[in-house]
Amino acid sequence: MTDNGNAPCRLGVLVSGGGTNLQAIIDRIEAGEIRAEVACVISNKADAYALTRASQHGITVVVHENANFSNRQSYDTATVEILRSHNVDLVILAGFMRILTDVMVNAYPNAIMNIHPALLPAFPGLHAQQQALDYGVRYSGCTVHFVDCGTDTGPIIMQSVVPVEQDDTEETLSARIQKAEHQTFATAIKLFVEGKIRVDGRKVRIAA
Ligand code: GAR
Repeated sequence: MTDNGNAPCRLGVLVSGGGTNLQAIIDRIEAGEIRAEVACVISNKADAYALTRASQHGITVVVHENANFSNRQSYDTATVEILRSHNVDLVILAGFMRILTDVMVNAYPNAIMNIHPALLPAFPGLHAQQQALDYGVRYSGCTVHFVDCGTDTGPIIMQSVVPVEQDDTEETLSARIQKAEHQTFATAIKLFVEGKIRVDGRKVRIAA
């Protein structure tokens, strides 16, 4: 994607939980390190603490629960309407615990980023940290990737490696990975905003 001239890139951040990644992104924007603004934060959970974090920074929040929708496509159609009404350029899945349909993916081609708590293609889906522990890997980490219609299968933008300690639990490994997530996600967003990311099939090229 390209640098959109003078206007800051408008981010639409989708969340379901605590929002530590959202917080890291807000902090980097407020520090002047990423030329972007969070146009809206959308949560599929009314009680997500991420909503409180967004409100504390004066960011528009939208609670968008799935109970009123008969299927995933109609939910995503409504999500796209919300994103478009806020003129979103880049969609950020920051702990958004739903699989997107083609409705979302086609509305924002190569402009939806997800953070996953493992080194993809290892351990996609839920409980990636526990999957890594159960497998016995010595290293895990996080992956930022563009979203396609599969589960954690889109082109990989950045990865960071984190060691797995012998006495790790899901909680301790998750906490170590999250620290890496906060750096890695913000850096990937910065590269996108600066127009330095190009997608070539499965490969993501990053300009120097
Ligand atoms: C993060 O660790 C992220 O990797 C994970 O949810 C957490 C959200 O934390 N996402 C997934 O597992 C998606 N498959 P946060 O709400 O504190 O940013």
